[in-house]
Amino acid sequence: MKSTMQRIVVVDDAEINRELLRNILKDSYVIDMARDGEEALQKIHRHERETAALLLDLQMPKMDGFSVIAQMKKDGLQSKIPVLVISGERSVEIEDKCFKMGVSDFIRKPFDASIVRNRVKNAVELFACKNQLEQKVEEQNETLKKQYRIIQMQAEELKQAKPFNKLMMQYRSAIMEVETKLKVLNDEFTLTYNRNPFESVKSRLKTPESIYDKLRRKGYPITVKNIEKYLSDVAGVRVICSFPDDIYRLAELFARQDDIILLKEKDYIKNPKENGYRSLHLILNIPIFLSKGKKYMKVEVQFRTIAMDFWASLEHKLKYKQNLENADEIVTQLKACADSIEVLDYQMQEIRDKIDRAKG
Ligand code: GTP
Ligand code: MG
Repeated sequence: MKSTMQRIVVVDDAEINRELLRNILKDSYVIDMARDGEEALQKIHRHERETAALLLDLQMPKMDGFSVIAQMKKDGLQSKIPVLVISGERSVEIEDKCFKMGVSDFIRKPFDASIVRNRVKNAVELFACKNQLEQKVEEQNETLKKQYRIIQMQAEELKQAKPFNKLMMQYRSAIMEVETKLKVLNDEFTLTYNRNPFESVKSRLKTPESIYDKLRRKGYPITVKNIEKYLSDVAGVRVICSFPDDIYRLAELFARQDDIILLKEKDYIKNPKENGYRSLHLILNIPIFLSKGKKYMKVEVQFRTIAMDFWASLEHKLKYKQNLENADEIVTQLKACADSIEVLDYQMQEIRDKIDRAKG
């Protein structure tokens, strides 16, 4: 059975302590003993993968316990092997120093057998769990990377295909149509009301990579037909307004135009997402005029205020960050910001109304 047991390195310059620890732990682990820090490190390096814990004395000749901890940190071993300090030190400062250096536990001499057994067991199990989890995450990351490489390759093929390029040209035309319509409304507003209905417009065509990825996620075969049929955000236009009521006024004016067909409206301003996201989304059918006639293209138009846009671009960054340590805290903070932004947006609107009335 011994061969399947985990290995523990015990380092202490006093033979009596080494023997005591060996007797306490020998039924559950293979014990490898060392007389000083240098010897301990050598043994750990020789059996890096099999070593389940290090029981470490602080005061030793040649290389003391602190130097061992520091060296293990340098060698990247501290996150893999738990270190339990076993020391006669009474001072809290020393104990505190050890924990600050990253040790897992601190056991005082003279030690009690069952306490040593339990603490070692806890540390070993905890690290095994942690290491397994880390390995799983690593494996998942690898799979994701591989998938992304496949997507990139297929997307390259898509870019070469003529029907795909033709479709992209048509989506680009639809974006131009929307931009022109917005410019016209802007000119008219400026002339009639002496102010702009929106601050800025940002347009984007979905990349072949993300088109491919989205179709795959939805479970549809990657064909040019399916792009048109199942994706509504290949052509995207974002309209940034100053005030919430501009959003509704502009969206209404826009969707009312008799060549535009409103396919879907998602009002995340009246019904914000749980994370705090607010914007008005319209999925529109926009006609483009080609040599062979008229064709309707889907365009996703998002309306938001400057503050909502600022929020959304920060929040968007969260999606691309993996393994964030304080993710929960960031989510809570973002939600609080979204709530403040809502209050701010409407307060600014009220002030604008007051100024307008005073002018009038
Ligand atoms: P997607 O697959 O992400 O396009 O979602 P969907 O097709 O279900 O539509 P939805 O209206 O929910 O989202 C459309 C787009 O709005 C997204 O692609 C983003 O650009 C934006 N959006 C939606 N929700 C969020 C959000 O929570 N945060 C941010 N930053 N943007 C969002
Ligand atoms: Mg989308």
